[in-house]
Amino acid sequence: MSGLSGIPSIEDFALKDKRVFIRVDFNVPIEDGKIIDDFRIRAALPTIRYALDKEAKVILASHMGRPKTEADKKRLSLSPVAERLQELLDCDVVFVHEPDSQAAKGLLPGLKKGQVLVLENLRFSELEEKNSHDMASNLASYTDIYINDAFGASHRAHASIVGLPSILKEKGIGFLMKKEIEMLDQVLYETENPFLATLGGSKVSDKIGLIENLLDKIDTFLIGGAMAYTFLAAKGFQIGSSKIENGKINLAKELMNRIESRGKKILLPEDHIIAKEFSNEADATETTNEAIPEGWMALDIGPKTRQSYAAEIAKAKTLFWNGPMGVYEMPKFAEGTKAIAKAFAESDGKTIIGGGDSAAAVKDAGLEDKMTHISTGGGASLEYLEGSKLPGLEVLRRGT
Ligand code: 3PG
Repeated sequence: MSGLSGIPSIEDFALKDKRVFIRVDFNVPIEDGKIIDDFRIRAALPTIRYALDKEAKVILASHMGRPKTEADKKRLSLSPVAERLQELLDCDVVFVHEPDSQAAKGLLPGLKKGQVLVLENLRFSELEEKNSHDMASNLASYTDIYINDAFGASHRAHASIVGLPSILKEKGIGFLMKKEIEMLDQVLYETENPFLATLGGSKVSDKIGLIENLLDKIDTFLIGGAMAYTFLAAKGFQIGSSKIENGKINLAKELMNRIESRGKKILLPEDHIIAKEFSNEADATETTNEAIPEGWMALDIGPKTRQSYAAEIAKAKTLFWNGPMGVYEMPKFAEGTKAIAKAFAESDGKTIIGGGDSAAAVKDAGLEDKMTHISTGGGASLEYLEGSKLPGLEVLRRGT
C-alpha cells in the first residue's frame, strides 16, 4: 500500500527550459525579521537543486503565517526567506512582490542560469485561502509544470495547492513530499510491534482522529501536555486549575475504555510540575502523585512520569510522537518534552517525529540525526495518519 500510487515525481518530467512552479512550505518561525529555524527551507533544497540542475526556470512559492492586517503583512514577508535561500543555494534570487500580477510572467523569459524566482507570501492575497479560480489561473499563466513539495501545507485546499494543479496537466511531487509520505506510510502499513505513540499538546479533540485510525495498530499510548489533564479528570483525579477541555471528559473516558478493552496500554502522567500561574517566572514545584492541589496548575510532566515513559519508549520498535509534554516555550516547563526527545533518540526502533514543538525539541537538543524522520508538517502529518486524504496530494493523483 502506498499513498503515492499514481502520483508522478519531479523526475518523471523533462524540465529543461520549462517554467517549473514549486510550491514549498517556507512557513518558518521569524522574529524581528530573523529566521529562527530554517529546517523547512533546508528540507526543500534537494528538489530545488534538482530543478536548477535540469535547467528549469524555477518559481518558488509559499505562504507564511496567517496574515490578516497590514501590520501582519510587514511581519510576514517572505523576503528574509529569499535572502536565506540565496545563501543556501548560492544562487541569485529574484523576489516577486506581487505574485498575483503579471510580474513573474514578464520576468521568466529573461531568467538566467543560476537564478530563481521567489514569490512574496501567497496569503497576502485573500484569494489564496479561498482557492480562487482567478488566482489559480493567473499562476497557471506562467507555469508549465507544477511540483508540490509543500507537505506541511498539503492539507489546505488553497489556490496554490489545489486550484493551480487542477488547471495544469503536468504536475507531481518533489523529493521532500515523497520522503514524508513514504515515512508516514511506514507508520500506517509497515509497523513493527510494539508500536508506541506519544501524544501531547493542548487538546484531546486534535488527536481523536489519529487515535481512532490507529487504535488497532498502536500498543502503547503515552499522554502528556494539557490533554493529559482532561484524561486525568475523566479518571476522577483532582486537577486543580489545570487547563482541560470540559466538553471532552466523556470522550476521554470512552477512548480510554476502547484502548484498554483491546488489551492496549494508555499511560497518563503520574506526577507533575505545577505552578500557581501560567508563567515562566512562577514558582514551580513537583507533585508526588497524579493529584494536583486546588489553586495549582500542572505545566509539565514530573520526573517519575519521564522515567516510566522512557522505559516504555525503550521497549518499542515503531515510535511516533506529536505534541509537547508541557509548556515547551517556557524553559521552566520544557524538561518533560526534552526527556521524551532524549528517550526517542536512544531508541533503536523506527522514530517518526510529527512536526511542531516535538520537532523543535528534538532540534533544540541537537538530536535530529538520531531520529528516523522528522516531519516538516505537524497538522499535515496528523491528518495523514488520521486516514484523511490530503487535498494537495489527491489533486496530483492520476487515474482516480
Ligand atoms: C504549518 O505550519 O503547519 C503549515 O505551514 C500550514 O500552515 P497553516 O496551519 O497556517 O495553514
